[in-house]
Amino acid sequence: MPKLVRADLPLPAAPDARSPKLTRVWDPLVRLFHWSLVAGFFTAWFSANEAEDLHAWVGYAASGLILLRLIWGFAGTRYARFSSFVRGPRTVMGYVRSILTGQEARYIGHNPAGGAMVLALMSGVLGLGVTGWMQYTDTFYGVDWVSSLHGLIADAMILLILGHLGGVALASVRHRENLVRAMITGRKRAPQGHDIA
Ligand code: HEM
Ligand code: HEM
Repeated sequence: MPKLVRADLPLPAAPDARSPKLTRVWDPLVRLFHWSLVAGFFTAWFSANEAEDLHAWVGYAASGLILLRLIWGFAGTRYARFSSFVRGPRTVMGYVRSILTGQEARYIGHNPAGGAMVLALMSGVLGLGVTGWMQYTDTFYGVDWVSSLHGLIADAMILLILGHLGGVALASVRHRENLVRAMITGRKRAPQGHDIA
């Protein structure tokens, strides 16, 4: 039966404006990687000096996740690729300045500052894996600077993670979207206006 349209009623708004469509951003591997990394990192953090075997095991597992993600950064889906979110220092600083003036663009993938943070977080976990492993080698066993460096990177990671959470919260508020939920469902509001896809 054909739909009847009453001439005296206003036309419905365009579907996009009423309930903007969602678009797929984070593939399952990225999401699984992220939440496993979070679990691995905090398990390693809380098991340090408490359960040596568990600490080493989850620490290596976290480093393994990073290696997997590095491959996926070249071979993965659109927004998982480094080429889609790794930007030079000028672009990153320009983006940070635009945040300060409240004019930052909404990115469908990681924004330039987020991309820099992703690299820093991944490097930190790899650094922990390497300095952790070194402490079990004949050459570096009991060498002070190695264990100090390991502890220093772990502490720096906490600062980075606080910055990471701050960035996620800020972008979520500014662009009125829940980025944590997006990292669970993989979906975000489709690009509109000046958004950068
Ligand atoms: C409960 C704490 C955490 C929450 C809620 C959280 C949330 C998020 C969110 C929402 C994103 C996507 C950001 C965007 O939209 O651009 C993200 C990305 C990322 N986060 Fe976290 N994060 C947490 C802890 C961590 C920790 C502890 C690490 C590292 C040890 C970490 C490493 C990363 C990495 C590497 C990415 C990039 C993901 C990818 O492209 O594969 N996060 N996080
Ligand atoms: C996400 C990964 C990791 C995190 C967050 C982490 C964190 C930490 C922290 C906070 C400490 C205590 C430092 C201190 O008391 O000054 C520690 C100690 C230690 N970690 Fe890790 N770690 C990680 C990975 C690893 C790995 C892969 C290994 C090696 C298999 C390892 C081996 C050790 C050892 C042997 C110590 C004792 C150092 C000492 O106090 O003499 N860690 N780690």
